[in-house]
Amino acid sequence: MTDYFGMESRSNHILTACTVATVMVHLDRLESVLPIAGVWFVTSTVAEKFLGMSHGDSAAIFGGLLAMKLVPMLVKRVVTIAATFPLALIFKYVSQILPKYTIDESNFYICDGATTEIANKRKQALLELSERWAKKYKKCIDFSGELKKMMSDVRFISGRCFFAFNDVVGSYLDPSMALEKTDRMNVTDIDGNVAMDISGSYGVNVCGYEKYKDFIEEGWQTAKSKGLFLGSLDSIVLDNISRLRKISGQDEVSFHMSGTEAVMAAVRCARWNTKKRMVVTFGGAYHGWWDGMQPVVGNDRIPNDVLCLKDMKQLSLTVLALRASEIAAVLINPLQCFHLNQAPPSDIVLSGTTFPAVGETPGYKEWLHQLRKVCTENGIVLIFDEVYTGFRLHPRGAQGVYDVQADIITYGKTLGGGLPVGVVCGPKNLLARGDPKKASRVNYVIGTFAGHPFVMSCMNAFLKWLDKEGTKPYDAMHSNIENFIKSTNSKMKKSGYPVELASWYSVWSMKYTRASRFHWMFQYYLRDAGVNLSWVGTGRLLFSLDWQKADYDELQGRILTACESMSQGGWWEEPKANIKQKIGVEMGCGVFKNLIS
Ligand SMILES: Cc1ncc(COP(=O)(O)O)c(C=O)c1O
Repeated sequence: MTDYFGMESRSNHILTACTVATVMVHLDRLESVLPIAGVWFVTSTVAEKFLGMSHGDSAAIFGGLLAMKLVPMLVKRVVTIAATFPLALIFKYVSQILPKYTIDESNFYICDGATTEIANKRKQALLELSERWAKKYKKCIDFSGELKKMMSDVRFISGRCFFAFNDVVGSYLDPSMALEKTDRMNVTDIDGNVAMDISGSYGVNVCGYEKYKDFIEEGWQTAKSKGLFLGSLDSIVLDNISRLRKISGQDEVSFHMSGTEAVMAAVRCARWNTKKRMVVTFGGAYHGWWDGMQPVVGNDRIPNDVLCLKDMKQLSLTVLALRASEIAAVLINPLQCFHLNQAPPSDIVLSGTTFPAVGETPGYKEWLHQLRKVCTENGIVLIFDEVYTGFRLHPRGAQGVYDVQADIITYGKTLGGGLPVGVVCGPKNLLARGDPKKASRVNYVIGTFAGHPFVMSCMNAFLKWLDKEGTKPYDAMHSNIENFIKSTNSKMKKSGYPVELASWYSVWSMKYTRASRFHWMFQYYLRDAGVNLSWVGTGRLLFSLDWQKADYDELQGRILTACESMSQGGWWEEPKANIKQKIGVEMGCGVFKNLIS
């Protein structure tokens, strides 16, 4: 025991406490603990030899110094954990535990405690639908059967309901569509069936399919004489750059081949130019499939240089200020405003007990302005990932709608005028590829197909169209959508259907107002009524600028027909059992089975 400044302290305890704290702070980088231990060992040996100081004394001094450094680090760690998106903390473990199980046909129709009468009604409805589809979609079904043997990604997107139901549903219904042609918002499959498309081609279709045919035709006319010469910088590229500078409010432009690649480039540039490694994203936001930017679902390599924080929380802003010296950039996907902190309420995640709140989150604009201020004050790069929202919300994307200027903006999807593209816009200092003082320190962000002449020409056709049209068609579309949502909701309510529509600009969604284990069946009836959805089902839907009042009316009629079929089939009958409990038991049994198998 040693006396320091009148305080008794056990140097060993100090050292132990500091060691534990050091390990906690550096859990993700344990190797950095070793040099600290090494420094203590060397200094204590030197102090003992030359100053006659005991190991205990040197441990206490060293521990005290370490504590001065560790306390702020611990505070940062605790605040960060409190601000972290909960799924980002537990996903690693949840993904190991959550079992995949199947509900067999004998339990399928009664999994919500339904009576035999309702179960028979459901079975009959499924059988009828299946028989109808076998004739109606014969070629599509054959085609997708072949494709599924050879394409894992087709198999991945064909399970469209709560996973436990996939086996039974898959044995009756295959919603795969093989396309013959598009005509306005109508898609015709190889069996000759015509459906109104509300999938929006993953967000690419902003202008309407006919417009993209025009852009591609115009682009081809301009590009065909150039052939495959890559690395060219012609007048079209220059014109695109000058238009994109105006739209983004930034000096420089860099071309890539997909949205994911644009995000990779933006993040790499931000890290390289700020010489910081950490990047912040917000829970539920999608920034492409690159594992370096997927901190939760969809990726087994959880990155340790991404902080996934809670959106629209003051504590998240505190983390930015506290850890500014480590954080290179914050990424925003403004689409988050619609499904804040949540994956879209797709039919896959609709287990019957979840009612995700859908709709524009109030206060989002104010939050973005606060975030802008905190980033500016702390030297953090604010990246707007406008791959989805750019040109969809407004000709200037979310920057235009929310009146916020980001430091780097990524675009993609519709900007290619119908061809694949990714674009990064930013200031010179943040997009720099070379260090002015160090010859070998370069930021290698470049790609073979960057600035492909055909892509550049189609992009040019799109950008010229955008310049000519301005905001007028957007305003008309938003007003049409508002009327459509109001009128459809009122009709569905009157008929007692448990569905409500919500929209945010041209993005819209269907949410369910009553519990059911079978809401996902709705997407199959929508298909049957002539409505084409993407694989995420009713959670994320899109309109394009070419829809007219008569088209919205037609769609409304088809939605109501699908609602009626759902009701007639007994799928929306009030559950007789506590479905939360049922799912809990099913999951528990699944975990147990996994453990013993
Ligand atoms: C916001 C956002 N960022 C990035 C991407 C990835 O784009 P891509 O699919 O072109 O790689 C997407 C795709 O949906 C997106 O919505």
